Amino acid sequence: MELKHERVLVTSALIYANGPVHIGHIVEYIQTDIFVRFLRLIGRDVIYICGDDTHGTPIEINAQRQGVGPEELIGKYYKEHTRDFKSFRISFDNFYSTNSPENKRLSDMIFSRLKEAGHIYQKEIELTYCEHCRRFLPDRYVKGKCPRCGADEQYGDVCEKCNSTYEPADLIEPYCTVCKSRPVKKASNHYFFRLSSFSERLREWITSNDNLQQEIKNFVLNWIKEGLKDWCISRDGPYFGFRVPGEENKYYYVWLDAPIGYIASTENYCKGRDCSAMDYWESDRASIIHFIGKDIIYFHFLFWPAMLMGSGLALPESIVVHGFLNVAGEKMSKSRGTFFTAEEFANAISPELLRFYYASSLGPKMEDINLDFWDFQDRINNELVANIANFAYRVLSFANTRLESRLKACTIRESPLCNEHAACVEGIRHAYDDLDFRAAVRLILRLSSAGNKHFQDNAPWRLINEDAGKTQEVVSLCANLVKDIAIALSPIMPDFCSKLAAQLGQEGLSWDDMGISLGECTIPRAEIILRRLGDADMARLGVKRGSLWQA
Ligand code: MSP
Ligand code: ZN
Repeated sequence: MELKHERVLVTSALIYANGPVHIGHIVEYIQTDIFVRFLRLIGRDVIYICGDDTHGTPIEINAQRQGVGPEELIGKYYKEHTRDFKSFRISFDNFYSTNSPENKRLSDMIFSRLKEAGHIYQKEIELTYCEHCRRFLPDRYVKGKCPRCGADEQYGDVCEKCNSTYEPADLIEPYCTVCKSRPVKKASNHYFFRLSSFSERLREWITSNDNLQQEIKNFVLNWIKEGLKDWCISRDGPYFGFRVPGEENKYYYVWLDAPIGYIASTENYCKGRDCSAMDYWESDRASIIHFIGKDIIYFHFLFWPAMLMGSGLALPESIVVHGFLNVAGEKMSKSRGTFFTAEEFANAISPELLRFYYASSLGPKMEDINLDFWDFQDRINNELVANIANFAYRVLSFANTRLESRLKACTIRESPLCNEHAACVEGIRHAYDDLDFRAAVRLILRLSSAGNKHFQDNAPWRLINEDAGKTQEVVSLCANLVKDIAIALSPIMPDFCSKLAAQLGQEGLSWDDMGISLGECTIPRAEIILRRLGDADMARLGVKRGSLWQA
């Protein structure tokens, strides 16, 4: 990816503080984290910013259902989320919350800038209202029969049976999902953002941006061509959010203050540090990269850039979109037993193994990825353990037992592995840079295979009886390769790689150490870091051979 600025700010979407992290969400945080760790490894000045998205009707209603205040609910999820992200080694520089003083101030600032520039107007609209609950109902809180096909139990915006879209008022026999009573129509005055007036600038920005994925560009441009509608950015109370200045009972719509949370989290990060949020968010000062899933493209490619344009702030230099996670070929589902929270996974299996598997599945395009548990087990055992981990242990334990742990200075560049090494290292760097982690994994495995072959071909266990010097040369060369693998794989498996590096007496390796000799040295005792995943390990996740989990 071509980055224009020295400073880089990377974000993942702000996760809803309304439920646990699941292994679908984790795809995004792992993808972003690998990229951020890669940027750090090559010495870029990068910060990784994220947080909880805390506002909106669902959070308010869920808190009410559970008999707690919304602050308490989001507080509970904040703790869970930070714990789960930590266990998956997601290395945020700051994980904050949209329910923060910084976000309130920034939301008011951006709202007033947009208003002063004439980008916001007010208009009265008819909405669905529940007189029993005394609240306006968002589309998802009204259900009824589809007006087109008659299917029961459809939401107020779209029929999941026939895919037709409509207004909640069109539903046959509509009811409030909270209290089951029949809603009515009620007028309310709201704030609208003139998205339509940004069409030209958005089109120009998207067309001229070479970092954006082509498939995504195409359909966003298509939305623009079909005509953008102005966007309602306020909601009536009761609502959990920030009150619109000068209003009694109106709040910013959650999607207004949610992306502003990126800036608020940056400001919070900069507190007490030698930087300010505007070092990143004023135009032309830093490269901003968002990572998001395919369901929130509209918000990030249209609403958000238009808000930034309208308030004179920096536009993202890139927005990376990934697909969704399927488990066993289908959308995760609690009833089929294919839904796993991040916590459930981490309690059963080392999270780094999922990082490896997701990396092996992620390419630069927006494609759904599939978690097939037997494929997962195979890849961990046949690629990670049998190839990489085994190579490292074979080489280092041989050095320990047969060479008194002593390595001699050697340079890969002057060895028979020179060309293969150079090709792989160069390829891996490009692959990370292009967000083609699948290719990076393949090349790391190729490098490790080359090492395994070199070790095998030279049969040091025999060679040592004839030529101790040559044996030490072969083993040292392989050990240097282990170091380079530990560097190359570290964005994906940071813990495994730092353990590997420690077995070579190394720490804090960077990309520049690639190909640099360990020199003459004595290494510590090697230990097995990774073992094969057996069926018993899989069973801890509830994944057993037979039935749905057919091997
Ligand atoms: N709160 C909004 C984002 C606001 S950004 C200013 C939101 N939150 S979310 O919790 O629903 O999703 C967080 C991220 O996880 C999104 O980018 C979403 O696309 C992604 N994923 C949610 N479920 C997913 C899968 N099953 N698979 C892959 N990614 C998924 O959207
Ligand atoms: Zn109701």
